Amino acid sequence: MKIRIAPSLLSADFSCLAREVEAAERAGADLIHLDIMDGHFVPEVTFGPLVVTSLAPHCHVPLDAHLMVNAPAAMLEALAAAHVSRVAVHVEACVHLHSVVNAIQRRGIEAGVAINPATSLHLLSEVLDLSDFFLVMSVNPGYGGQSLISECIAKIERLRRMIGPRPLDITVDGGVDVSNARRLVEAGATTLVAGSAVFGAVDRAQALTALRQAAEEGATE
Ligand code: DX5
Ligand code: ZN
Repeated sequence: MKIRIAPSLLSADFSCLAREVEAAERAGADLIHLDIMDGHFVPEVTFGPLVVTSLAPHCHVPLDAHLMVNAPAAMLEALAAAHVSRVAVHVEACVHLHSVVNAIQRRGIEAGVAINPATSLHLLSEVLDLSDFFLVMSVNPGYGGQSLISECIAKIERLRRMIGPRPLDITVDGGVDVSNARRLVEAGATTLVAGSAVFGAVDRAQALTALRQAAEEGATE
């Protein structure tokens, strides 16, 4: 599977998000990762569908929304109207996960299930055939710039084994940088979200290229 790099806008300059999106695209982003936080599921508040709608015309690569919110279903209509390509919802936030995943897919959006570092993979066993991708959090969600929790690498390996031969994307999110990109891909991750590793760099194109090179060293084909 092709390895994709998804810069996260959480570490971008919020005073000029459109320019930051354009810079990430020029740097070689495969997706733009949008961290939507409600101040309840996680302590912080970022932005919601209105901001995504404003940003959408500036994006030429697929938009990848990560909903760290307690009520994701309420946002789906607006995100679909903004032509978001992927939406990940947290298994911890969805009592009725099948309904939410179906509601995402019904709108023509790829549905992902996200899982926090402390949550057991057992919670995904009933949705392995349902969702289009999985997002493994490798830090506790809510903030950029944290260090990767190394146990999450083995968790990605276990999830890859659970999925079996199907070419389903595993996205890893949190603390991804050049020092761990190769190991994450070796473990089975195929999309790497990177906030501070890209937006915190002076030369974003150079940072993204270095990350991609490190990641591709871990790919088998
Ligand atoms: C954290 C977010 C991440 C965050 C990653 O809750 O889900 O997408 O932006 O930032 P870094 O790459 O700096 O850990
Ligand atoms: Zn995220």
